[in-house]
Parts: sequence; structure tokens; C-alpha cells
Amino acid sequence: MKVSIIGAGYVGLVSGVCLAAKGHDVTCIDVNEEIVARLNGGEPHIFEEGLPALLGKVVAEGRFRASSDMAASMATADIVLIAVGTPSKDGAIDLQHIRSAAQEIGAWLKGASRFLSVVVKSTVVPGTTDTMVRGEIEAASGKRLGDAFGLGMNPEFLREGSAVVDFMEPDRIVIGFEDAETRRRLEELYRPWGCEKVCVNTRTAELIKYANNAILATQISAINEIANLAAALGDIDVMDVVKGVSLDRRWNPVVDGRRVEPAILSYLVPGCGFGGSCFPKDVQALRSQGQSFGMPMSMLQAVLDVNKDQPYQVREILEREVGSLKGKTCLVLGLAFKPGTDDVRESASLAIVRSLLDAGAKVLAHDPIAVSSFARALGGDPRPAFVDSWEDSVADADVIVVATKWPDYERLSVLPLHDKVLFDARRMFAADVPQSGRYASIGYRIGSEVDPTNA
Ligand SMILES: NC(=O)c1ccc[n+]([C@@H]2O[C@H](COP(=O)([O-])OP(=O)(O)OC[C@H]3O[C@@H](n4cnc5c(N)ncnc54)[C@H](O)[C@@H]3O)[C@@H](O)[C@H]2O)c1
Repeated sequence: MKVSIIGAGYVGLVSGVCLAAKGHDVTCIDVNEEIVARLNGGEPHIFEEGLPALLGKVVAEGRFRASSDMAASMATADIVLIAVGTPSKDGAIDLQHIRSAAQEIGAWLKGASRFLSVVVKSTVVPGTTDTMVRGEIEAASGKRLGDAFGLGMNPEFLREGSAVVDFMEPDRIVIGFEDAETRRRLEELYRPWGCEKVCVNTRTAELIKYANNAILATQISAINEIANLAAALGDIDVMDVVKGVSLDRRWNPVVDGRRVEPAILSYLVPGCGFGGSCFPKDVQALRSQGQSFGMPMSMLQAVLDVNKDQPYQVREILEREVGSLKGKTCLVLGLAFKPGTDDVRESASLAIVRSLLDAGAKVLAHDPIAVSSFARALGGDPRPAFVDSWEDSVADADVIVVATKWPDYERLSVLPLHDKVLFDARRMFAADVPQSGRYASIGYRIGSEVDPTNA
């Protein structure tokens, strides 16, 4: 099939390259000319494992190209996927990029004589596709849904850091549609994928994506709140609590006498909070949409409240454990919001670094790939010193904070840390694993307990 994708970011580019690898003819359209030029040279502008090789292959085979000319690309397209950003504005979804993409498609449709299926792939609040997107296209084209164009909604579940594998081996594909022809085209588009397809109307497809993220985020905030309570009580390592909970067969079934260890258990590990380009903004957007219907959305509000405070646990616990941080040197390891990506959007490390600097600490910071995007996100704050070799910097540090679980940092467990504090903000190590240094973490306060009856 001939596919146009508007927006060549994480979702648009990875989807485009993978669809091309499965045999489709794909054009990714982006307003950013620099991105377009790089992609046509076979060079991705984002860091994603496996992407450079696959992009090089599909460009060389002539099945993938980038362009800034939307009209030319749509002239031959069977399907256009909208994959532009949907950021948060004042706690609600900002649909301006979706709106302008819909208007441009509508303007093109006005003079067109072929039927085009327009499919929203961006994460948009339920009801966006069948109201706003439909309205903008109809207004700009003067044509009706079903006559000149069809509408679909195909949410994306890839995760940064494993985006190519996630797209190539999805758990399911959600096909939202408003007309039979668009359903047929989406089924054709995803025919090379054998996984289960969930075919629903567009607003159900939109809510599936939000429900997925909101429930995962809820699990993270729930275990973080338990961890904070464990630390307040004292003499509890919350990882013992996590183990006790996760042995429940409903979390971790036993099949043929063996534990399945489902991936969902990784969302039951306490830490310094969730970040990234999706969870925070998507939970905010759904909370905000619910509130616009007069619902309190108390649970999602609580999920956000717990998460907003969670990175500050690092400074709070450190000050409790070692006293004032003024003049102390803190080495922060990991700046990306998670390993495998250079994305620092809403990364907990931003709040951690700022709070340590505000406490008067000298901050050394390291990340294998996210330093330049982190420095930009800090707005040019000159205070943190970015280091190339984290191992060389360990000797200079009083405190070492693991903020992103990059596998390289596992070597900390065998390095001589002497009297330094190792703050494991991601529970990367069991408390007794590091061979030296003093272990500190979220939900870990051993050796001092509070009498809850007198608290
Ligand atoms: N990043 C993820 O892990 C992820 C996962 C699932 C879903 N999503 C959702 O997918 C959507 C896109 O996210 P992303 O991370 O790929 O965003 P992104 O910011 O990386 O990319 C968006 C791209 O769209 C381009 N663009 C904006 N307006 C345009 C227009 N009118 N015409 C052409 N190009 C335009 C921008 O230049 C940018 O390159 C969002 O709704 C997001 O919530 C993201």
C-alpha cells in the first residue's frame, strides 16, 4: 500500500520504517527540513536501537523517503497516518498540530478526486477523531466523511528504547474506524502482522490507549506511595514487600511449576517516578478531559500528585541520611527518562539535579547518550558539570545517585565506594549487593523505626 505519514518523530519515523520493511511504500512528511534531509540520507535523527540499519535498508530499496511536500505525497497515498506531537498545555492536551494537519489534509482533499483514508496515530483524547478531525477536514474540503475520505484511529504502543522491536512484534493492533473502507485499508496495512487485532470505533480506540497508560502509571504511583510509607515507618526494605506481593499468583502465575515473571512486575518496582513524553502528559490529558465532564478524576489526580513529588524523595532521604548537602559532590548517573533512549522529556533526573543544586551540592552528571538534550532541557544552567567517564568521577563524589537504569551502571556493585553513599533511585541493586559504600534508596530505611502508634 502507499502510505503517507505526517510527522517523522519517534512514532512517525519508526512506524514508517517498519511499515516499509514489511513491504509498503512509505513517505514520511515533516515540517522540519533538517529532519527530512537527514532521513533521506539514511540517518535517523533520534536514537533507537536497530533503527539506523533498518532505515538505511528501506531507503536503499526505495521503499521509504522523507519529504516536506504533503500535497505531492498525498496525491498517490491510499492511507495517511497523522503522527504529530500532542503535548500538554496547562495540564490539558494541546491539539494544535493535529488540527493543522487535518486542515492541510482537508485543503488537499478539496481538489482531489480519489478517496483517502485519514488515520490518527497520535495519542488524542477520546472523541477527537470523530469530532474535531472530522470537522476540520469537512470544513476545509467541503466534502463529507464516507464520500471523499474515511477516518480511522490506530493508537501506537511502542516504547522508546525498544521502539523497533515493539512495532515489529506488537501485543495487539487496535484498529479504530468510522467507515468500512478505512477498516479494510487498515486491515490490509497490518496484514503482515499476525497478532490479535482489536477493531472498534475511533473513540474506543482512543480510550484504549489512555486506559493502558493511565493504569500502568497508577501502578507505579501506588508502589511509590507504599515505598514512601515503608521509609516513614522505618526498618522496612520495600523490596521485601514487593516480593511478598508479587508472589501472589494473580501477579505472577505458576505454569508447569514455574513462575511466569510477567513484564507487568517491572511496574511494581518503586523509584523516583515516571517520566517521558507519554505517561505524564497522557495521564494529565485524561484527568483534564474527565474534569471537563464534571468528574473529579480523583484517582488520576492522585497518581500525578505522587509522581510530581517522587523525584524530591532523593534530596529528602539524602539529607536525612547524610545531613546538609551543601558543598557535597553528588554524581548523578542517568539523565534520560529511561535506558535505551536520549529522550529527557519529563525525566525525573531534571527534578533530581535541580533539587540537589538548590540544596547547595556540586553536581556531576553522566548519561551515555542524553547529555546534550538534558543540558538543553535545563535551559543552559551552567551549574552541573557533565562528565564523560562516570567511573573516573566516582572518586570525586560523596554521593552517587543512580537515576536511570543504564546497564553499564551495574558495575557500581563491584567498585570500591569506601564511605560514599550509593543512592539507588531505581532499585537497580538489592540492598546487600554493592560490595562497599553505604546503600540508600527509595522505600529503604533500615536501622531506625518509628512507633506508628505515637507517630
Ligand atoms: N514517543 C513515544 O514513545 C510515543 C509512543 C506512543 C504514542 N506516542 C504519541 O505519538 C504522537 C507523536 O509522538 P512523538 O514522540 O513521535 O512526537 P515527536 O515530537 O517526536 O514528533 C512529532 C513530529 O511531527 C512533526 N510535525 C508537527 N506538526 C507537523 C505538521 N503539521 N506537518 C508535518 N510534520 C509535523 C514535528 O516536526 C516532529 O518531528 C504523540 O501523540 C505521542 O503521544 C508517542
